[in-house]
Amino acid sequence: MTRVFSGIKPTGHLTLGNYLGAMRRWAETDQHQADALFCVVDLHALTVDHDPARVRRLSRQAATLLLASGLDPERCTVFVQSHVDEHARLSYLLECVAADGEMRRMIQYKEKARREEARGGSVRLSLLTYPALMAADILAYRTDEAPVGDDQTQHVELARDLAVRFNQRYGQTFTVPRATPPKVAARVMNLHDPASKMGKSDDTGPGVVYLLDEPDAVRRKIMRAVTDDGRDVVYDRRERPGVANLLEILAACAGGEPEDLSGGYASYGALKKDVAEAVVEALGPLRRRHRELCADPGYVDGVLRAGAEKARRMARPTVDAAYRAIGLLPPA
Ligand code: TRP
Repeated sequence: MTRVFSGIKPTGHLTLGNYLGAMRRWAETDQHQADALFCVVDLHALTVDHDPARVRRLSRQAATLLLASGLDPERCTVFVQSHVDEHARLSYLLECVAADGEMRRMIQYKEKARREEARGGSVRLSLLTYPALMAADILAYRTDEAPVGDDQTQHVELARDLAVRFNQRYGQTFTVPRATPPKVAARVMNLHDPASKMGKSDDTGPGVVYLLDEPDAVRRKIMRAVTDDGRDVVYDRRERPGVANLLEILAACAGGEPEDLSGGYASYGALKKDVAEAVVEALGPLRRRHRELCADPGYVDGVLRAGAEKARRMARPTVDAAYRAIGLLPPA
């Protein structure tokens, strides 16, 4: 069976973009068709300025929302990265295989480092080495496929390179993973800036629908989404990115194709109303399930404990093999 690994970073509240772009497919497809691991990658959240209490809270919330979205711990493995030592153990070995230059070439590093420096902040060393940790996440489980958005494919390519290099130098140890672009990706854009993705880390709240927003907040945000010049509802990603985004969200939540849906609206207002209701409805079950899970923290703890145990059992032999292959003396 194909092994799939994906991670979600607890650096912000999860958004409609996370759900429609990734989580929903994990629950509807991946967990049924693959041997899938879904990980709250909390160590990655420490690569930028962070507040300890917030990371802790967001990690738990992300895990709870993964379960609320329909991931079934009987079918897949849900766990928190820092609960499984093998990630950090392997990351160090991969730093010994990677070159400084190839880390510095990562687009995400360059952009984030530039932004940090512009703000007068300092860049954590872990931001540079982040791709080694991400490669460890993937390689420790002999992952075949890592479903990621396009902003992460460069990191998965690097994981491939490191796997190949390690295997050549030290003997066959790792499976060489593939980045799989989301198949029917709904790429949800920021409602106030349809040129950028609806990310969880940007704090432009009004353009971002969070999974735990109250229905009225969801409605208000969608009704205030920026639209484009012109008044007729047409689907044109280039010329009408704001309206196109709304049509795509509608299609993702209520079914149908954005082009076909556009014909049914005479005004932006009518479209927004339907989008708002479709989103509220799509998020309803998730919100309800989230509330139930919050009322039963022992259950979530148990799932994460069992998930970490299972993940540890899977990763341990591969990481041990890598320690031996690279020349470290086995403990007596
Ligand atoms: N870097 C990814 C992100 O920012 C999260 C991530 C960490 C990940 N490790 C991973 C994704 C392994 C896929 C596989 O979104």
